[in-house]
Amino acid sequence: MMRQREGGGRTRSLAWLSIASLVALTIASVVVGFGWLPSAQADFSAVSLWDSICRAAGVPSAWVRQGSRQDTPAVASNVILLPEMARTAAPAAVGRGATLALNCTMCHGALGMSRSDAPNLAGQYPEVIIKQMEDYKSGKRGSPIMAALSKNLSADDIKDLAAYYASLPKARTAPTTYDETLPALVRVGDPMRNIAPCISCHGGVDQKLGAPWLEGMPKNYLVQQMQLFKTGERRNDAQLQMRNVVRAMTADEIDAVATFYARKGEPAGE
Ligand code: HEC
Ligand code: HEC
Repeated sequence: MMRQREGGGRTRSLAWLSIASLVALTIASVVVGFGWLPSAQADFSAVSLWDSICRAAGVPSAWVRQGSRQDTPAVASNVILLPEMARTAAPAAVGRGATLALNCTMCHGALGMSRSDAPNLAGQYPEVIIKQMEDYKSGKRGSPIMAALSKNLSADDIKDLAAYYASLPKARTAPTTYDETLPALVRVGDPMRNIAPCISCHGGVDQKLGAPWLEGMPKNYLVQQMQLFKTGERRNDAQLQMRNVVRAMTADEIDAVATFYARKGEPAGE
């Protein structure tokens, strides 16, 4: 009896000893792995534990810098997208919008179809126009021209302009549909590089609230905007939706998807 109990005590203290050494080992490896080893590197610059974890997991530090240091202090946009922003507006709003839009025709075209490299606005989703105008106004999306033009517009003016442009027929380009002939990045993206397919947000499979209609846009505009997202100069996309997509894309890939979306083709039928 005695001997058995003694034996049990020894096993128990042995178990405690191994738990204690496991805990000590874990603490030591955390200190060494996240603190001592990284700090011994020449480019050590950990600002937080999250930073160290990303570093330990092998995330390139440029990503971490973009993801946490530049973006957390400032929100991407002040605009909260609501489903009602996407609803069709009353004819009176469209009429008021048409009058206000006389200030916009010079660059965006008489009927919202641009002849320059400014974006088309015809048939653009209303919530997109509202969000982008509010972002220009607040400076979340930088453009000296559009900042000046949106400065004196009220929230109602912007809503009416959005209603007017949404009421115009879209570019004569058929909406993208899920189909084998689409460029791979448009149709399936590239999971290995974390690139989601364009059609999962920009129409074809799904249109995410706030994702612009791209078909028939001037090619140079599409390339320029993707490059701005890539460099982080344009950063008004909530949750880095676009920045995450273009980050790993090459210049050739950007060119290819822009060529695809800029296609001028068959009537949209809408
Ligand atoms: C002098 C030329 C000019 C005028 C006038 C102008 N715009 Fe623009 N607009 C531009 C350019 C250039 C861009 C792209 C700027 C950028 O890089 O962000 C743009 C972008 C936009 C966008 C963003 C579209 C998108 O797909 O993201 C909207 C919305 C817009 N303009 C609305 C208007 C409205 C409404 C007016 C009239 C009140 C107007 N613009 C007048 C040149 C102009
Ligand atoms: C996760 C959803 C998502 C995916 C995937 C996505 N986009 Fe976007 N994209 C958006 C959103 C949302 C915006 C508007 C951002 C904002 O609020 O300013 C946008 C904006 C853009 C713009 C700027 C258009 C304008 O008029 O301002 C371009 C160009 C663009 N996307 C191209 C693409 C291409 C090409 C792909 C595929 C390689 C793609 N996007 C994949 C969500 C997405």
